Amino acid sequence: MQDHNQAFTIGDQFYLHDKQFKIISGAIHYYRVVPEYWQDRLEKLKALGCNTVETYVPWNMHEPREGEYHFAGMYDIRAFIQTAGKLGLYVILRPSPYICAEWEFGGLPFWLLRDGDMKLRFSYQPYLDKIDRYYERLFAEFRDMQIADGGPIILMQVENEYGGYANDKAYLHALAELMTKHGANVPLVTSDGPWHDLLDNGSIQEAALPTINCGSNIKEHFARLKRFHGQDRPLMVMEFWIGWFDAWGDGKHHTRDADSAAQELADILEEGSVNIYMFHGGTNFGFTSGANYYEKLAPDTTSYDYDALLTESGDITPKYQAFQQVIARYTELPEVKLSTDIRKKAYGEVEVKEKVSLFSVENRLAQPVESPYPLTMEALNQPFGYVLYKMNLGKNRLIEDFRLIQCTDRAHVYVNGNHLFTKDDLEMEGKETFELTEPENELSILVENMGRVNYSVKMNSQHKGIKGGVIVNGAFQSGWSQYSLSLDNLDKLDFSKPFRSGTPAFYRFELEIEETGDTFLDFTGWGKGVAFVNGFNLGRFWEIGPQTRLYVPAPLLKQGMNEVILFETEGKAGESIAFMDTSGLGN
Ligand code: GLA
Repeated sequence: MQDHNQAFTIGDQFYLHDKQFKIISGAIHYYRVVPEYWQDRLEKLKALGCNTVETYVPWNMHEPREGEYHFAGMYDIRAFIQTAGKLGLYVILRPSPYICAEWEFGGLPFWLLRDGDMKLRFSYQPYLDKIDRYYERLFAEFRDMQIADGGPIILMQVENEYGGYANDKAYLHALAELMTKHGANVPLVTSDGPWHDLLDNGSIQEAALPTINCGSNIKEHFARLKRFHGQDRPLMVMEFWIGWFDAWGDGKHHTRDADSAAQELADILEEGSVNIYMFHGGTNFGFTSGANYYEKLAPDTTSYDYDALLTESGDITPKYQAFQQVIARYTELPEVKLSTDIRKKAYGEVEVKEKVSLFSVENRLAQPVESPYPLTMEALNQPFGYVLYKMNLGKNRLIEDFRLIQCTDRAHVYVNGNHLFTKDDLEMEGKETFELTEPENELSILVENMGRVNYSVKMNSQHKGIKGGVIVNGAFQSGWSQYSLSLDNLDKLDFSKPFRSGTPAFYRFELEIEETGDTFLDFTGWGKGVAFVNGFNLGRFWEIGPQTRLYVPAPLLKQGMNEVILFETEGKAGESIAFMDTSGLGN
């Protein structure tokens, strides 16, 4: 059963260079942490007593547009693996390519949806062909960093919790074969919830070791996994959930008690191996946060703090210490000197310096695309952000029946720049009535993509913007102009143009500092939108919380003058923002 030619193997246990090996791993997603802090987070992982780091690989960030690859900066996966290797940590990679992870569209690229027949996560050949091309480029990044070549990578995962989505075994086998074709030579695993049919649906025992994801009742779940294996195989919790994520509108930040989690960890280590999910959650910068959809859309917050062992800003928590005590029973804790000097700063309040309405600058931010019917974000080849739709509504009259058909996720409707109403999700298709009083009437609809779902049966229908159309007095309307607002070109803004309160607008601030430090942008008093620091998209803010501050890591700041811009969509603006030295999450 055990192949001794390999450096890391799976037999009745995991074996590293022929010795039994207990994987004690923690999850850090490199793309949720600025690269300047990778070493710090990995050193803290090592100091905890872990021997391995685990990360998912987000296809949508590495191939943001079909055939265009991105492996620099925060997406430099090779540098991340190298940093881990230098610290003596092993690496588990999950290039799944679906990753869930509260990440925009579960890591799948938006452009997959440009194929109207797309069948995600099935053995649909055009989908597999795109994975094949992506893997060819992706695996070039780390093919030579597997343990057989002396590198740190010891395991790779096929798909992710596939058994909770479907049961197309041919697809799982095709993925495993693609991984092998592109050079994976470490053992493969699958991971699934230990419930119902999930293990059955999601496992390909001939090709990959089944592991489980759970947060409690470890003994019971391991017993089930053992029965499922049907022979002596190592037991591993690939995701030991030690906290949880937050969605906008959740009453409070999710936390999990340190002692109960540490007890479960002890149960896992007694019998098997673990990957702590998350060791360090980090941040959903930019438009990278995903969403869930059960009864309604539940978009995730920008913070991915997760009540993990390190806070969002990398601080050691009491839960870290509780876990360290358990891990110390299995390994000698190494002496680790932290090499990155990180300080917190409270820079205080900064007032709005300049402001301009979106409706004064849309032509600077985007070239309008004309079409007889409204185009979705995907048809516009736009990954994330907002689309501004405009059309001429004609003469003054009563509009008795106005409806937005298949419009996602949140729409603000204006006539001649006056706000009429805002709708989201379930309210979207409800009928509206209003009076047009001017001889000419321009309709503007600003539609926000709040994050494509990363989990649920709705994966195949994650088109954003207006898909069906707009009904005015019983008829679909034609003659549209679309402005793609990805907000990656804010240097084009002209703040000398008019501002009108109550409309979506950009607000500019200047933050002058002597010393850079980690800080938290407090957006109390502001409605909803996105924040930028020196052109970097920090992520979304929303007054409904539970998050009230956005984490600004020091490497995004510079000594001297820093430019901060808020794009606010509800017409709810404060006079100032503040920079604090705590997250406001209470941990
Ligand atoms: C599952 C997924 C992860 C993540 C967690 C919840 O286990 O596999 O990617 O979404 O749920 O945080």
